Formats: sequence, structure tokens, C-alpha cells
Amino acid sequence: MLRVENLDKHFKIGASKLQILKNISFEVKEGESLAVRGPSGAGKSTLLHILGGLDRPDCGKVYLDEEDIYSFNDSRISLIRNEKVGFVFQFYYLIPELNILENVALPLLIKGQSRKTAFRKSESMLEFLKIEPRKYHYPNQVSGGEQQRAAIARALIVEPRVLLCDEPTGNLDSQMGQEVLKLLTKVNIDRKTTVVVVTHDEDVASWAKDQLFIKDGYIK
Ligand SMILES: Nc1ncnc2c1ncn2[C@@H]1O[C@H](COP(=O)(O)OP(=O)(O)OP(=O)(O)O)[C@@H](O)[C@H]1O
Ligand SMILES: [Mg+2]
Repeated sequence: MLRVENLDKHFKIGASKLQILKNISFEVKEGESLAVRGPSGAGKSTLLHILGGLDRPDCGKVYLDEEDIYSFNDSRISLIRNEKVGFVFQFYYLIPELNILENVALPLLIKGQSRKTAFRKSESMLEFLKIEPRKYHYPNQVSGGEQQRAAIARALIVEPRVLLCDEPTGNLDSQMGQEVLKLLTKVNIDRKTTVVVVTHDEDVASWAKDQLFIKDGYIK
């Protein structure tokens, strides 16, 4: 469902060229899970962004449901991303002026669904993730773990085919980290969502069915 072929990516800083990813190829089958590990600066977040249609590679291909996404223009890529990809970031990025329910409903409202439908779906997602009692709280009125669950709820509300998580437990204590892992299991098993997770955490890495390790730009 997600296939990467011969990806290269560099960044330019002034006159110098920083080669980040070299000839990266792998595949994640439908409903499976993959952990990406590697030292800080190895290019894990860069890879995740490329997988989700957020950043063009220099060369190579990303196939999502057999579609070569970077063969399309940026607006078509955004459509595919909105339709099929959910992102969970280490720092949540909830909107501080919106309460938890509104944050989760936002992607549906942007897609043009009615407020009634969007809020009804969001409430049941918050129930699924066990934070429904916090729905009227603002992000700064809930714990880090609750914010992360809200961020996961927001990513899942559009029923993405693939969930891309960057250090989803990075800011959580080990108990909350376990909760997030349980949740990812639910998403992966019950909803059959394909999950790719970037992590430093051994527990998170061993949670995934497959693992790959990136170092010096290559898969080791
Ligand atoms: N927009 C950019 N412009 C220039 N260099 C960048 C850019 N984004 C990332 N880099 C560089 O690319 C390298 C890989 O960054 P990336 O964020 O992918 O690493 P990472 O493996 O996710 O690291 P960490 O584990 O610390 O999050 C880093 O050395 C970083 O400085
Ligand atoms: Mg990173």
C-alpha cells in the first residue's frame, strides 16, 4: 500500500549540499506497521514527510495505493494527502484557541462537512480514544498524553489509509507512552490502518511488525 523506490533527498545550506537520504527503498503492506529508527539527524522526519506527500524527494518514487504521488502537481498531492494520510507529530500542534472537540472536528469542517456531522463524528472518535470527558477543555488544560490522544484523534477523523507518526511517545512518560501504543494497536488492528512510526524508543520500535534503521542516509 506504501512503497518507496530509490529515494534521494538533499538539503542545500548556502553553498554546501547535505545529502540526507540515499537510495531508500522499502514497502509497507496494507494494515501492517513499520518502525523507522536511527540516530538524530539521520533523516527520519524528512523521510516521514516525503512518505506523506509533504516534501518532494530529489529522485525516486513514493507509491500510495499504487499511485506514484510525486508524479502529480502539488494541489493533487494535497488532495491525496487529505484523503489518505494522517500525521501525528511529536509536539501535537493542536490549535490553542480551539477546544479539543473543535480541534478534532477541524479536518472534517475543512472538507466541507456540516458542523453537526463533524461534531458527532468527533465525539465518537474522542470516545474511542477515551478523552471524551475532556472535549470542552482547551489544549493547555489537558495533559501531554491527552493532547497526543487528541492529535491522534484529529489524524484519524478523516479515516486515513496510512497513519504517519513522528516520535508519538517522545514527550510522554512511560505509562502514557504505553497508552498511546495501545491506541496505535487499536488503530492498526481494529481499523486496519497502516502505521509508520519514527521513534527512538525501543518499546515503540518493537511494537511495530517490521523495523528499519537509517544511518548515514542509507537503510542499514
Ligand atoms: N529544511 C531543511 N533545510 C536544511 N536542512 C534540513 C532541513 N530539514 C532537515 N534538515 C537537516 O537534515 C537532517 C535530517 O533531519 P531530520 O529532521 O530528518 O532528522 P531526524 O532523523 O528526524 O532527527 P531527530 O531524531 O533528531 O528528529 C538534519 O541534519 C537536519 O539538520
Ligand atoms: Mg525527527
